[in-house]
Amino acid sequence: MTRLFDAGIASLGLAFPSLGIDVRELARVRDIDPNKFTLGLGCGTIALCDQDENAVTLGAKAARRALERWDGTLEDIGMIVVGTETAADMSRPLSAFIAEELGLEGAVRSYEVKHACYGGTLALRQALEWKASGAAGDKAALVIASDVALYGECDGGEPTSGAGAVAFIVDKPTVAAVEIDSYAWSKPAFDFWRPVGEDYPRVDGKFSLDCYNEAVEHCFAQRIGDASAASVLSQYDAICFHVPFPKMVKKGVTRLGEHFQLGEDVTGKLFAEKVDPTMAWNREVGNCYTAALWIAVARALADQGPGAHVAAFSYGSGFGAELLGLVAGDAAADAAWVADVEQDLAARRLLTGEEYLDYRAARRKEVREVPLRQTA
Ligand code: HMG
Repeated sequence: MTRLFDAGIASLGLAFPSLGIDVRELARVRDIDPNKFTLGLGCGTIALCDQDENAVTLGAKAARRALERWDGTLEDIGMIVVGTETAADMSRPLSAFIAEELGLEGAVRSYEVKHACYGGTLALRQALEWKASGAAGDKAALVIASDVALYGECDGGEPTSGAGAVAFIVDKPTVAAVEIDSYAWSKPAFDFWRPVGEDYPRVDGKFSLDCYNEAVEHCFAQRIGDASAASVLSQYDAICFHVPFPKMVKKGVTRLGEHFQLGEDVTGKLFAEKVDPTMAWNREVGNCYTAALWIAVARALADQGPGAHVAAFSYGSGFGAELLGLVAGDAAADAAWVADVEQDLAARRLLTGEEYLDYRAARRKEVREVPLRQTA
């Protein structure tokens, strides 16, 4: 029997930056066959931050949107927790930067959670468990997953770059209820990491694909147990994955099919019907690290509507993973958060390949001089 937390996602807000580039333009200026980026990796457009945008401004924008469509106020928030791997400081949490933007202070627990792309999921779980413990009283939590995912110039990961944020209010489960039981798996590995003081991640690309697939297999194996994989998977209306690039998700589903001997047809149908549609927004913005999975979940909740069962597989390099289950609430009928995505994508400017080269040259200087706004 499915056990649900009493508290859940009461409001959702998403935010994306004002610049972007089509990966075919990137391929042109990098002298690479565009099919490698579009067909080989499944990418579409990369979201890029303008000079005044970063993980703080994106997180604050998503939070404001979530707060606006919630029936509470800032005074009702007792916790702000930010999952990110775009930390501004080794000591001061990103939550303090965002709380400052929002004007949130007082009897509020404020902190940052780190575990690569898995950090946003951990932040959400902690907020749900805080509510369930009774320690929250009648206060709600503001949970934010915000990241800027920019790879080095000419790095294999460059076409998978992106940026974006998702904010959740954890209170009544009007947008979605979350299952208490979840299936975690971790194994210390150096598949992708961001050494302190370095501008861009280091990646053992091929190894990272193996780690991701291994995590998929273990998390789903725990969920399925001795039952029939086909029957367990058929209980979900949508199955969302962390999306570093869409082809990775297809590889993960293929691995799932092979492990449970689902057969190519069943696996193909599963991917086409329950997984691929959830990545429609991810294709428009690229990898958003902690936010990537939750962008797919936001899309699935909106597409499927109230009562839908949605699986969410979270993966963070290093590596840690967890499979969660959600049930869409009544607010999924209106899915007000769809407007956030439509608005930001309609307003953004796509760079030409040459403008992108200038952008990277300017940023090379910028990351050395001003890592992030500092107020102290
Ligand atoms: P690469 O090594 O340059 O690419 O970068 P490749 O040679 O492996 O080619 C990629 C695919 O394109 C292949 O398809 C090629 O065959 C195909 P596959 O065989 O894999 O199905 N291809 C073409 N297709 C059509 N026309 C062509 C053509 N040429 C080649 N002309 C790599 C790939 C993934 C390594 C790189 O993008 C990378 O390093 N990305 C970053 C790491 C990453 O995203 N890993 C995913 C798992 S780890 C994760 O999800 C965590 C993460 O989000 C971070 C975190 O947790 O914080 C990254």
